[in-house]
Amino acid sequence: MLTLFDYEREAESRLPPAHWGYIAGGANDEITLRANRAAFDRLAIRYRTMVDVSVRDLRTRVLGQSVSMPVLIAPTAMHKLAHPDGECGTARAARAAGTLMTASTTATTRLADVIAAAPGPMWFQLYLYQDRARTRELIEEAARCGYRGLMLTVDAPVLGRRERDIRLGFTLPPDLMLPNAAIAGMGRVPDASAEASGLMLHFRHLHDAAITPRDIEWVRDVSGLPVIVKGIVRGDDAVRAAAHGASAIVVSNHGGRQLDSAIPSIVALPEVVRALEDRAEVYVDGGVRRGTDVIKALALGARAVFLGRPILWGLAVNGEAGVREVLELMRAEVDLAMALSGVRCVAEITGDLVNRES
Ligand code: GLV
Repeated sequence: MLTLFDYEREAESRLPPAHWGYIAGGANDEITLRANRAAFDRLAIRYRTMVDVSVRDLRTRVLGQSVSMPVLIAPTAMHKLAHPDGECGTARAARAAGTLMTASTTATTRLADVIAAAPGPMWFQLYLYQDRARTRELIEEAARCGYRGLMLTVDAPVLGRRERDIRLGFTLPPDLMLPNAAIAGMGRVPDASAEASGLMLHFRHLHDAAITPRDIEWVRDVSGLPVIVKGIVRGDDAVRAAAHGASAIVVSNHGGRQLDSAIPSIVALPEVVRALEDRAEVYVDGGVRRGTDVIKALALGARAVFLGRPILWGLAVNGEAGVREVLELMRAEVDLAMALSGVRCVAEITGDLVNRES
């Protein structure tokens, strides 16, 4: 297992097709899913030479929290589909790697149990339910059990049409639940129908399609926590989010799972960075698979990147240990890419390192 792609192939061979399809798939024709990755490949690194890189430091800070490398764990749903270790395994692996996990609303483990498995800095990803009183309870619970930031996803007012999931009749197996949604009376995911996966029906019944910038202030005020807004690909949206209290922005198109033909996130990143002028931290996800991708993202102005699917690949292959392996593989790749790019620390990864025209 030399690369993240080896974990991808191995994970596919271990999972039932419908579960693999849910993890791997994107919306509709999966144009954005492919484009996220392809856009990284089109960027080239203008590496520096004649720099003493014998000592390298990968550490950085996100919202004041120190992390061992600029690679964080994106919120992804249903970790127990990948492995019985589930979200708790991922949390322990994140802690062991000195990085930060974002636990998902759509987790197969209750939010209090995820953070109890590996107490320490962790963020919670939030979807807004139509029932705001229940949403408030979820937010208050997240704050009470020690989450340090709330990541509000704004690119999923409704769920994208993942046609692999519809064809394969994807829903959660009967032994798994979404316990956070139990707060709103929907811990069990419905059976798939002929035109919608179980998750699409779950979203339709439960989630609020009316998200506005005022919700950022609401989430911040209810929780007393910094809000990280995820799913933005435009400078004007990022500025609106920051003006309504966002402390950070994740430039993201939800891994190509929402609007197909959406702009690749690494292409959208520079516009968002430029528009924000340091009013909020900026991170990016979508197609990060190599240490060199991390260099490219940081050179284009991201403070850190998030890994989504590769974490689930590691989990599927070897549970908690597999997530650790994936994270250590990324760390080694980032370290090598830094050395060969002539940089000793993340602050030295500046815009001149990447060729935007290639
Ligand atoms: C859930 O948020 C998903 O993208 O499947």
